[in-house]
Amino acid sequence: MSTNEKQLAGEAALRYVEDGAIVGVGTGSTVAYFIDALAGIKDRIQGAVSSSEQSTARMKQHGIEVFDLNAVGPIGIYIDGADECDPHKRLTKGGGAALTREKICAAAAQKFVCIIDSSKRVDVLGRFPLPIEVIPMARSLVSREIVKLGGQPVWRDGVTTDNGNWIIDVHGWRITDPAGLERQLNQLAGVVTVGLFAQRPADVVLVGDKEI
Ligand code: A5P
Repeated sequence: MSTNEKQLAGEAALRYVEDGAIVGVGTGSTVAYFIDALAGIKDRIQGAVSSSEQSTARMKQHGIEVFDLNAVGPIGIYIDGADECDPHKRLTKGGGAALTREKICAAAAQKFVCIIDSSKRVDVLGRFPLPIEVIPMARSLVSREIVKLGGQPVWRDGVTTDNGNWIIDVHGWRITDPAGLERQLNQLAGVVTVGLFAQRPADVVLVGDKEI
């Protein structure tokens, strides 16, 4: 892992931002570099849609206008980090507990540019525990279902998401069919969002300043 690669990726993502855009903005330490770079061209964009309170606060500090997604409709570009990325640009996300709003932003975006450092590249997803956001009363129910599917669920105790929900991190899965698992987990009662971005993967991945 290299902080420098994160910074390079965050700054390189600027080249995908068009004048007049409303930019979808993800969450995390790599995105923080992107937000800081975006501040330098804030007069050339309309503003942003944010995937978390954390990113909203950083953008507001920079004087970047933050819009409600409902007020802007489809967004041209969404920039976000990831916890893992496979060769098909399928991702694991949610290490920062922002997966639900991140998935909404990715779904609303015409182009999803993922910015990572090289430590995030994997052949098969699953080395990083898979985050799942759940309605609090369903934590035990969902955990039991995950055990039946061969995973080891661990409650991220003490963390409440921006949506008032809880996170279960699933260890021990080697995820050879990410889209299938994403669909399967989405069916479980009480699951809000699965941190697999496989049905809607990234369109572009930047590792440092290099597009892969
Ligand atoms: C936030 O919930 C995550 O999806 C982040 O995108 C992910 O954890 C990457 O974070 P870093 O850029 O801090 O590594």
